[in-house]
Amino acid sequence: MDLDLALPDAARARRAELARALGESRALLFAGAAPPRNYAGAPYPFRASSHFLYFVGLPFERAVLSIEGDDHALYLEPPAPDDALWHGPAPSLDAIEAAVGCPVRPLAELAGAGAATLAAIDPATRARQEAALGRPVDPPSRGDEALADAVIALRLVHDEAAIAGLREAAEATVAAHLAGMAATRPGRREHHVRAAMEAAILERAMSTAYGSIVTVHGEVLHNHAHHHVLGAGDLLLADVGAESRGGWAGDVTRTWPVSGAFSPTQRAFYEVVLDAQARAIAAVRPGARYRDVHLAASHALAEGLVALGVLRGDPEELVADGVHALLFPHGVGHLLGLDVHDMEDLGDRAGYAPGRARSTQFGLSYLRLDRDLVPGMAVTIEPGLYQVDAILRDPHLARVAGDRLDRAALARFSDVRGIRIEDDVLVTDAGSEVLTAALPKAAADVEACVSA
Ligand code: GLY
Ligand code: MN
Ligand code: MN
Repeated sequence: MDLDLALPDAARARRAELARALGESRALLFAGAAPPRNYAGAPYPFRASSHFLYFVGLPFERAVLSIEGDDHALYLEPPAPDDALWHGPAPSLDAIEAAVGCPVRPLAELAGAGAATLAAIDPATRARQEAALGRPVDPPSRGDEALADAVIALRLVHDEAAIAGLREAAEATVAAHLAGMAATRPGRREHHVRAAMEAAILERAMSTAYGSIVTVHGEVLHNHAHHHVLGAGDLLLADVGAESRGGWAGDVTRTWPVSGAFSPTQRAFYEVVLDAQARAIAAVRPGARYRDVHLAASHALAEGLVALGVLRGDPEELVADGVHALLFPHGVGHLLGLDVHDMEDLGDRAGYAPGRARSTQFGLSYLRLDRDLVPGMAVTIEPGLYQVDAILRDPHLARVAGDRLDRAALARFSDVRGIRIEDDVLVTDAGSEVLTAALPKAAADVEACVSA
């Protein structure tokens, strides 16, 4: 671990804020541990829980942060006798205390009775939590819920150190996409482009923030296959994001023509998605409700599809009835922070403001965020158009669409399977800042990057 990456002042300030919000209660935040592949010495890469990382700043495996009023301590497993042989010398206790800005105590001294915590997703860490606290953590106790709300309130609004981390991730993410465009040639495979993209991230000593999607089948939203050959007439959809050295996420999608030139039908759909993205980004500002940002994108997509003859009717009504969702079935974006879908381990408690709940309408039901935006929040804006057979043939959705979907007109766009354009947007006092604006997205600019 690189102790030089520590940000003790930011971590200390965050802990103090959390302690203020918690009053008398005590909170324990668990870092988690990497699961072994087949024996303890061959683990999967370790990624600390983002809640832990936020308040500590460094990823100490199996560690637990305790916060109780002014008493903050990091409980660490002391190095095993043979650690120096296999893992090298451990940093001194003084160096760790200076890096995290609080006392360090042996993990064996941790007493957890009466504390609140946030249930880990992985079963092994959850078992350790339950052993330390002496009670189940799922469902959460009232104290756990209060802790979740306090953590959400802090992590929703990024401080300066967080924004610097998001910028670092954005810079690497932009570089990755430029490398991917430059590496694209008909006849190569998806994994060649993925390798070029991830190399740009790895050479910055970073890793990816999520499993890279680099696919000529962009209609499969979470497509993690990378074996397809890039055909000259294909669009390649790349959803790839870097994770900064401090753990902050980038999350960007671009869609480009393998040949370096969009066909007229690909370009027509691309322009519709680009317009929807521009209108959604323009709607991002303090006080705006995120669902309205989603609806702005939906409206633009419906309008564009009507202009192309693919949908018939009034865009307002098409959106109200969810007809556009046959081609845009997901939400326009989500929170971004230490996690790519920030704090989704806490469910809709983070993404939905109190009193708001998910719609049950197809499409809108996948909207992961419905809060009023405030300066310091970071969100993605990622509209798309997809031709998914299973959705287009779904009898219920076909009934909803009726003759408002012109299938013959849609068939003319068969060389478009999936297009998404995604950027990372910071809400500012003045409106918003696109953190990933350095990456081209106008059709001609994208073509130029591929051909170069
Ligand atoms: N990369 C995952 C997403 O865009 O939501
Ligand atoms: Mn995203
Ligand atoms: Mn993405």
